[in-house]
Amino acid sequence: MNLPLTFSCASDLHKKLEAERISGNRIGFVPTMGALHRGHLDLVLRAIEENDRVVISIFVNPTQFNNSIDLEKYPRTLDKDLQLLADLPKVVVFHPVKDEVYPEEDKFQPIDLNGLDEVMEGTYRPGHFQGVVHVVHNLFQIVKPDNAYFGLKDYQQLAIIKWMVKKLDLRVSIVECETRRESSGLALSSRNLRLSDKEKEDSTILYSTLKHIQTVCKNLSPSEAKLEAISFFNRGKLELEYLEIVDPVTLKELDSWKDGAVCCIAAYCGEVRLIDNMIIC
Ligand code: PAF
Repeated sequence: MNLPLTFSCASDLHKKLEAERISGNRIGFVPTMGALHRGHLDLVLRAIEENDRVVISIFVNPTQFNNSIDLEKYPRTLDKDLQLLADLPKVVVFHPVKDEVYPEEDKFQPIDLNGLDEVMEGTYRPGHFQGVVHVVHNLFQIVKPDNAYFGLKDYQQLAIIKWMVKKLDLRVSIVECETRRESSGLALSSRNLRLSDKEKEDSTILYSTLKHIQTVCKNLSPSEAKLEAISFFNRGKLELEYLEIVDPVTLKELDSWKDGAVCCIAAYCGEVRLIDNMIIC
C-alpha cells in the first residue's frame, strides 16, 4: 500500500506546487477536516479526473466551531484517512498544525457575507462562517488551486464560499459535488461515526422529509410546504433545529416558488447535530 505524500509545512507544499504550476500542471484542491468517507472520496476522484495534481487538506479548523465540546469530539482519524487515500494517483495530503494555516502575519480581514451567514446555520452557529471563509481563504493562499471541490451537502457553506471567491476576485473555480448517501438515504457525514445503528435509522427522517416535500410541494405554496415538511419531520424521533425553504443563491426564505428552491434542515439526533438539504423544484 502506497500512502500519499504528506506535508505539514505550508511553505514546503507551496514551493512544490509553484514548481508544478510553472510546468503547466493544473492543481485541484479538496479541503477537509478529515474523518474521510465515501463522500470525500467522490470529491477526490473527481478532482483526480480534472487536474494533474490533487491536494487534500486535513485540518480540524478550530475557528469554525462555536462549541468547544463539538470541537473536542470531532473525529480525528488521520491513519485511516491516509489509508483511504492510499494508491490514488496525483494525490498529496496537507496536514498542518494551526500556526501553518493561521500565521502571525495573517492578512485576512472578516468579509461582509451579504447576509448569507445570518440565516439557518448562521443563526445557530454565530461566527461559524467567518471561521470557514477564513480557513478556506488561507488554504487557497497556500495551495493556489485552479479548481476546488466542495460537497452540496453543506449547501450554505458552498453558497458562502462562492460569494467569497466572487467578492475577493479569487482565481479559483468552485466545483460542486453531489451528496453521497447511504442506501437508506442518510447523507454521509463524518458526524455519522458518532451515531449508533438505531440512531442512523432514526436519522433517515431527514432524507424522507426532503423526498416527501419534493413530491408534494407542487400543490403548495412555499410557506405551506414548510409547515407540511415540519409536521412530516416531527413524526420522527429527531429534534428539529430549523427547516427552511430558500432561494438557491440569496438563501432568503421564499414566498413564491423559484427554480432551484432548496429545502435545508438541521436537527439533533441525541447530541449529534446533522444537516441535509435537497433542491425541491
Ligand atoms: O466542509 C468542511 O469540512 C469544512 O468546513 C472545510 C471546508 C474543510 C473548512 O474547514
